[in-house]
Amino acid sequence: MKKISLESYDVIIGDIGQSLSDTLKDKDYTHIAVLVDEHTSECCLPSIQGVVPKASVIKISSGEQHKTLPVCESIWSQMVIAKMDRHSLMINLGGGVIGDMGGFAASCFMRGIDFIQVPTTLLAQVDASVGGKLAIDFQTYKNFIGLFCDPLAVLVDPKFLKTLPEAQLRSGYAEVIKHGLIKSSVIWDNLSGLDSIEEIRWDDEIASSIMIKRDVVTADPRERGQRKILNFGHTIGHALESFALSSSAPLLHGEAIALGMIAESYLSKELLSLSEISLNSITDHIKKVYPDLSLESLSHPDEVFDLMGADKKNKGGHILAALLEEIGRATYDVALDKAQVKKALAFTKVVLS
Ligand SMILES: NC(=O)c1ccc[n+]([C@@H]2O[C@H](COP(=O)([O-])OP(=O)(O)OC[C@H]3O[C@@H](n4cnc5c(N)ncnc54)[C@H](O)[C@@H]3O)[C@@H](O)[C@H]2O)c1
Ligand SMILES: [Zn+2]
Repeated sequence: MKKISLESYDVIIGDIGQSLSDTLKDKDYTHIAVLVDEHTSECCLPSIQGVVPKASVIKISSGEQHKTLPVCESIWSQMVIAKMDRHSLMINLGGGVIGDMGGFAASCFMRGIDFIQVPTTLLAQVDASVGGKLAIDFQTYKNFIGLFCDPLAVLVDPKFLKTLPEAQLRSGYAEVIKHGLIKSSVIWDNLSGLDSIEEIRWDDEIASSIMIKRDVVTADPRERGQRKILNFGHTIGHALESFALSSSAPLLHGEAIALGMIAESYLSKELLSLSEISLNSITDHIKKVYPDLSLESLSHPDEVFDLMGADKKNKGGHILAALLEEIGRATYDVALDKAQVKKALAFTKVVLS
């Protein structure tokens, strides 16, 4: 078992049966519910049912399109039917959708009950489950209604990755790359030396990635400054993701962020001090890990730039991005203009074609 401590809770990496029973040892909850979707119900629930045999299971449909208020209401209804009270516990067993929405539902239910995050995708293990951000989508806006609230614990078991579809694993890996690029040249050197993500020892890599996110969020829990470096690759990446959503070849989140990281690394070289050697190392590794990304969105720079204007991280009409000064050191609030973004998209298209 590895333990990574944040201010008010721990992330425990290891066997889920063990970590869950340790976490519940001295607790006396009136009721426990486990939130799952159809995939985690099948692939992950059996690993914890022996520890919480009496728990109610609340099952929702998988997918971002279900991270909504109506689904949240149905969760609350089932919590009421299960007679959950203020001394109950919610266990969120799933990817970022389950964690974000289950955490939101628990932290609003009767003004807040305890919840444990058990992330089962790579993205949720290294990113979504750490840092206390909880939210649901509203109308066309992603993560628009939500709050910061810490879980009782985050329990990470890398064995859950065995049933995760390969595309989802690769998508989550983009956040692992990002953590190295913004904070640790040592991690980056290890990752960039690999030929395939199959060579990765997930226990170690997940732990170092979580430690980076931990360090960043504990220094700036409410994203007033430094935490913005976690948005590296996301200013352009989110816009590419949104564009691709309405096209015939959608991109998974991490795939869009991989493209965004190439574009923003190019801008880091143009506008800041990132060296050409570092830029090449970043593009080479991303090309190797993501050989078959859809590049269609890169051919629509005007639409992509317009979508960047809708980012809720912008301020006063300026598009602000986190960029790299060097590998392992990032800065934030760098203003981008349309000509720069267009050049970055063109560069990304050329290096990947
Ligand atoms: N709170 C944060 O700080 C934060 C950070 C990043 C992302 N997010 C949110 O996370 C969400 C994306 O999370 P995600 O990528 O985990 O997507 P997801 O939760 O939709 O999971 C992806 C798919 O994998 C399936 N799945 C999950 N675990 C599995 C397993 N072990 N075996 C087989 N299938 C499994 C799910 O059922 C789903 O179909 C987004 O809503 C995003 O906004 C939140
Ligand atoms: Zn992301």
